[in-house]
Amino acid sequence: MVNAKITGIASYVPDDILDNEMLSKMVDTSDEWITTRVGVKERRILHENGKGSGFLGTKAVLKLLAETVTDPADIDIVICATSNPDYRFPSTASVIAHDAKLPNAYAYDIQAACAGFIVTMQAARAYISSGLAKKIIVVCAEKMSSMTDYQDRSTCPLFGDAAAAVLVEPTDEPVGIIDGDFHVDGEGLSHLLMKAGGSVKPASHETVDAREHYIYQEGRAVYKHAVSNMLSSSLTVMHRNNLSAENIDFFVPHQANLRIIEAVAQRARIPEEKVLVNIQHYGNTSAASIPLCLDEFKDKFRKGDKIVMTAFGAGFTWGAMYLIWAYDPKK
Ligand code: ACO
Repeated sequence: MVNAKITGIASYVPDDILDNEMLSKMVDTSDEWITTRVGVKERRILHENGKGSGFLGTKAVLKLLAETVTDPADIDIVICATSNPDYRFPSTASVIAHDAKLPNAYAYDIQAACAGFIVTMQAARAYISSGLAKKIIVVCAEKMSSMTDYQDRSTCPLFGDAAAAVLVEPTDEPVGIIDGDFHVDGEGLSHLLMKAGGSVKPASHETVDAREHYIYQEGRAVYKHAVSNMLSSSLTVMHRNNLSAENIDFFVPHQANLRIIEAVAQRARIPEEKVLVNIQHYGNTSAASIPLCLDEFKDKFRKGDKIVMTAFGAGFTWGAMYLIWAYDPKK
């Protein structure tokens, strides 16, 4: 059996910081409310006009190619997970493949909201284990600020911009992606969506006036489903692979809200020191959040480390993935 392993990871965030003090001057909120309810202190924002998720993703991909000393001509496929595509069509992956100068790759996007990384990794895994591809870039690129309403205090503190990319390659060793558990429940649609701009309700003066081109979220419903579903998927993957809180090395939840992360980890009885968290610096970067976190903590990982990742997002779409890290830190 050929496994799919991560052989490199890189990320990119814009320089501009939007912290809680600055947000408190824009909407009726406070650092205290955001810190205790969400756990975010600051997030990054891409302000430059004419630059979107493709710009962020390209930056991450170029860093990844440099870090892994990969010839751009060797990349077979680029799969981009994003909820903030540069255009409704063509794909943001095609923009990234062009701007990162990958002459032989074909490219497409996956829309799985905040679960985009693990869902896209499952696709990459299938290509690699079937022998259809040898080098795949999974890139998660999210200019969340493009659909965040900075007049809505219930959503604007949550989100930030980021991109992260991983290189996925085959291996005969027992490392890489070992298992995944994935679900979707369309009943979640009404709780978390952008109401207009799609084919159901194309953009019009009315949709702009009604502020329907921003994230609409019923926070409490999303919170409840996020905790129960991330927990059940994590436990499914752990039970299937004889994993316990003792023998996993790291737990990497989607960084949606610190309280959600703590609730899931506590119920799965995973000790705090194994739970990777960087939400305080970046907020919820949707599909990019898990690989951004993996990149931040990658120097802690050793070959053979057992990592469980879990995510939940719009759809509702959720799941968990079990990965055995494939390399020691690069010097
Ligand atoms: N500052 C101050 N007060 C606020 C703010 C704010 N920024 N936002 C809301 N409030 C107020 C509300 O108006 C409400 O006031 P009221 O009681 O007088 O009516 C009170 O705080 C409580 O509001 P809730 O919405 O019940 O607050 P809650 O504790 O549920 O926290 C939050 C809201 C942070 C959004 C939480 O529900 C949450 O994290 N939900 C999940 C979000 C998530 O995980 N999304 C993931 C997917 S995102 C994607 O796929 C793109």
